[in-house]
Amino acid sequence: MTQPFPEDVFLTGPMAPSGIECDAPDLIVEGEVPDDLRGVYFRNGPDPLYPPRAGDRYHWFHGDGMIQRFEFNDGRVSWKNRWVRTEKYELERKAGESLFGVLGNPLTADPSVADEHYNTANTHVVWHGNKLLALMEGTIAVELRPDTLETVGNWDYDGQIDGPITAHPKFDHKSGEMIFFGNQAKGQFSDWVRYNVADRDGRLTRNEFIKVPYASFVHDFFVTEKYVIFPIYPLAFNLENVMQGGVPMAWEPDKGTHFGVIPRDGTADDVVWHSMDPRWSFHMVNAWDEVGCIKVDVCASNATQFAPKLDGTMATEEDGLRPLLRRWTIDTTGKTNTVSEEQLDDMPGEFPRTDDRYMTIKHRHVYMGGGDKGLDFNRLIHHDLQTGTRRTWGNDRYFLGEPVHAPRSVSAPEADGYVLQLAHDHETALTELLVFDAADIEPGPICRAKLPVRIPAGFHGTWVGA
Ligand SMILES: [Fe+2]
Repeated sequence: MTQPFPEDVFLTGPMAPSGIECDAPDLIVEGEVPDDLRGVYFRNGPDPLYPPRAGDRYHWFHGDGMIQRFEFNDGRVSWKNRWVRTEKYELERKAGESLFGVLGNPLTADPSVADEHYNTANTHVVWHGNKLLALMEGTIAVELRPDTLETVGNWDYDGQIDGPITAHPKFDHKSGEMIFFGNQAKGQFSDWVRYNVADRDGRLTRNEFIKVPYASFVHDFFVTEKYVIFPIYPLAFNLENVMQGGVPMAWEPDKGTHFGVIPRDGTADDVVWHSMDPRWSFHMVNAWDEVGCIKVDVCASNATQFAPKLDGTMATEEDGLRPLLRRWTIDTTGKTNTVSEEQLDDMPGEFPRTDDRYMTIKHRHVYMGGGDKGLDFNRLIHHDLQTGTRRTWGNDRYFLGEPVHAPRSVSAPEADGYVLQLAHDHETALTELLVFDAADIEPGPICRAKLPVRIPAGFHGTWVGA
């Protein structure tokens, strides 16, 4: 019997667990589904099966991965959701309760899972090498069937990777390659990242270990046509601090921000390090090459409250906590190792996405969630970086997540297509999937697929065209 969930901001309202797997063959749609919107939108997010163990404090990043699958076909929308059958899910389902500590904490875990694999598979779901992969950054991937969402099993590139795989791989749409990395690649607290490339068929072609200035929380990274860039932000992991009874991760701005730049076809010996003032970023927008430099568009803040400082205090609003759209320039001529920054907008925003076909090359359009209510995103934001215009849609009725772009066709120009947006309706406590014209979001959705239930707020997703 599942026990009640405790009071927690990550277990109530839009984030409360759903507790159900569904198959809805033909959702109610208000408005007309465009004829040329054909394909599947997959999205991943945490949906804990059981409440945390007694004495353990829940964290949003700990919930069991639940995949949503929306198929658009012939003007209809179907929906299906399934939990990823990780080892954690299966063991806990059998026991009827949580066995793992929150975020894999061994101190609060049941002794029976001391040697078991902690995997939530809850952060992103991507399509590459004919495989649908559920990802979380702490361990290997889990393969799913794209039609039924049935779990196939762990995917470790035929045993060649036994450590973490980022939840934010990049795709080079010319070469078909997936470029990815593993953080703390030689064990927790280790100051190593692992750089990987898989070819268009999903075969591993690169497996390179790179020493970084210090172990830190690296959620995302940058890839251009020529370079891979590993950012090291001063949200640092510190084993010594743990030994002295302190926190495992702390905001240590004095450590500065560093960028390891390596040619895509380079080795660990080719890394050049660049630095800038302390910054924090969960997600970048995109990166590309220009003459003599690399440009990176990113949602970044000057400080974070994601972890306390070493003295136990938190960074404050005055330190600059709001994620803002910025452009970083990294010199590649050897003249300077200092990264420069330009702020592109003053409206806080996060979960940025471009048209995925523009990953690694210069983009014009950016879509993201945001607004002025902190984490309670109430605006869908569209930046046209060529005209310098920002358009938004939204109101306080909806809590919005990550927007995903669906091109009208494989050959359509950038932003010719649709933006898909899951929205939590605060009034009905139900979820709607909103479809916008990517060229003009301001008038509001073209159509709304209405779910009979609520999908918990989640993380990242992928459009796979028909
Ligand atoms: Fe993320």
